[in-house]
Amino acid sequence: MEAKIVEKQVEAYIRQLLPERDAFFAALEQTAEISYIPIVQPEVAQFLRLMIALKKPVRVLEIGTAIGYSASLMALAMQAGEIDTIELSDEMAAAAQTTFQKMEQSFERHASVRLIKGEAKTVLEALDAGYDMVFIDAAKSHYKAYLNLVMPLVNAGGLIISDNVLYKGTVADDALVPKKHKTIVKRMREYLTYISTHPSLTTSVLSIGDGVALSYIKEE
Ligand SMILES: C[S@@+](CC[C@H](N)C(=O)[O-])C[C@H]1O[C@@H](n2cnc3c(N)ncnc32)[C@H](O)[C@@H]1O
Repeated sequence: MEAKIVEKQVEAYIRQLLPERDAFFAALEQTAEISYIPIVQPEVAQFLRLMIALKKPVRVLEIGTAIGYSASLMALAMQAGEIDTIELSDEMAAAAQTTFQKMEQSFERHASVRLIKGEAKTVLEALDAGYDMVFIDAAKSHYKAYLNLVMPLVNAGGLIISDNVLYKGTVADDALVPKKHKTIVKRMREYLTYISTHPSLTTSVLSIGDGVALSYIKEE
């Protein structure tokens, strides 16, 4: 799928404004590229840093660890506190553990990261409440199920950030949807309608990266 959600030159312009990343993250980006592992795009990484600077979360939950790129960048942005991150794949979980060990050796101040191996929906049912921010970045067809399990775990005033919600632009245009992606796109549209109309949420859908939805849990 070639379709993108912003023009290439706009994306390139925005990216050259981003702060230079250090060797630790550059190495992870290279690993991800070589092995075709999807990680957050640079402007989404910066958006997560910004949300952490604004919200100052103490407890963060991530669904979808992969090699631990986004969890590490959030841990460093937080400087203290806790991140729980959930990953289904044994291979990814092993790679992420290595990443977290390197992060701990390379940087003095960071949140402590707990990797929870397992299927997200099963893990979510067993977690203790009290998160300030959640990053959803796993199986796109299951975002609505994740959200319904996550909402009781998040403090009022908390943030839920969902990645890849515009799915290379296909969510906005039927003509761009290859047959094999029709179900994912249909479910993502349902998810976006759900979070945009949910009475307990205020949501903004942003056309950065592959599309990011920022949802704020209203304080009643
Ligand atoms: C897009 S990657 C995560 C990238 C990571 N957040 C980053 O930016 O560095 C999605 C990950 O979710 C994991 N995943 C997919 N379905 C899952 C499920 N049902 N439960 C837990 N993890 C799942 C995949 O194995 C994959 O590693």
